[in-house]
Amino acid sequence: MKKDLLNILDLTEGEINELIATAEDIIANPDAYAHRCDRKKLATLFYEPSTRTRLSFEAAMYELGGQVLGFASATSSSVAKGESVADTARTVACFADIIAMRHPKEGAPMVAAQNVDIPVINAGDGGHNHPTQTLTDLLTIKREKGRLDHMTVGLCGDLKFGRTVHSLITAMSRYEGVDFVLISPEELVIPENVRTDVLVRGNIPFVETRSLEEAMPKLDVLYMTRVQRERFFNEADYIRLKDSYILTRDKLTTAKSDLSILHPLPRVNEISVEIDRDPRACYFKQVLCGKYIRMALILKLLEV
Ligand code: NCD
Repeated sequence: MKKDLLNILDLTEGEINELIATAEDIIANPDAYAHRCDRKKLATLFYEPSTRTRLSFEAAMYELGGQVLGFASATSSSVAKGESVADTARTVACFADIIAMRHPKEGAPMVAAQNVDIPVINAGDGGHNHPTQTLTDLLTIKREKGRLDHMTVGLCGDLKFGRTVHSLITAMSRYEGVDFVLISPEELVIPENVRTDVLVRGNIPFVETRSLEEAMPKLDVLYMTRVQRERFFNEADYIRLKDSYILTRDKLTTAKSDLSILHPLPRVNEISVEIDRDPRACYFKQVLCGKYIRMALILKLLEV
């Protein structure tokens, strides 16, 4: 039976560990993987803007010897003529072996998956989930910290609409001894379903705060996020909230010396560029991790 990746919970902890191990082996021995996907094709169907996710999927497939087709915006495909996600997916499945789809509507990649016999990967659906960013984040944290358990993870910014946040909390809640500090304005706290279904039900320790300064000394990982302008109903609310948190050198004075600072990117204003040279800044290493973990994922879903 074909396997999709729609939600990070589609993978067991064991499968995530295997993907991380494969990604690390690819990093160590890239030549051994250069022809694993010869003659295979990946379709990238992106109905929303993307730089890292789409290009890292494409680079991943090329580095495995495969080929890539697809579209980078809804306006350049028959979607602009009113074609449904199901029909587009069925069409693309005639040409490709695996699909990565990003869509502004929650659940769109699931609809695609239900209509085709090839694996479908959710590359971000609305404000819902972003499982491959989470795999990227987990690989980055594993490489930086040497573990995924026993740590305090701070998530800061737009916790309401940030799909990467929802998937990362869900994934990291499964590791022992992980607790969360959720730093956001009142209006952008985590959605009720993440709070009750993941944190409360899982008995996961977490605190919510408005203050990044207060949280800083406790953190092993700080995951900064952008305020998700495209999900706001009202531009005035976005403008009021967009600069709620800006990480500067001053704010890091109370941080642990081995803090790891992550950001799924794109950055708008949340991290001052002066931090980029700080050895604790991991967000560009994180981008590279995204390519390797997607290579591992493509291999797994194509069963090669
Ligand atoms: C994120 C996304 O698309 O959700 N970007 C990414 O995939 N690296 C984060 C964001 O857009 O803020």
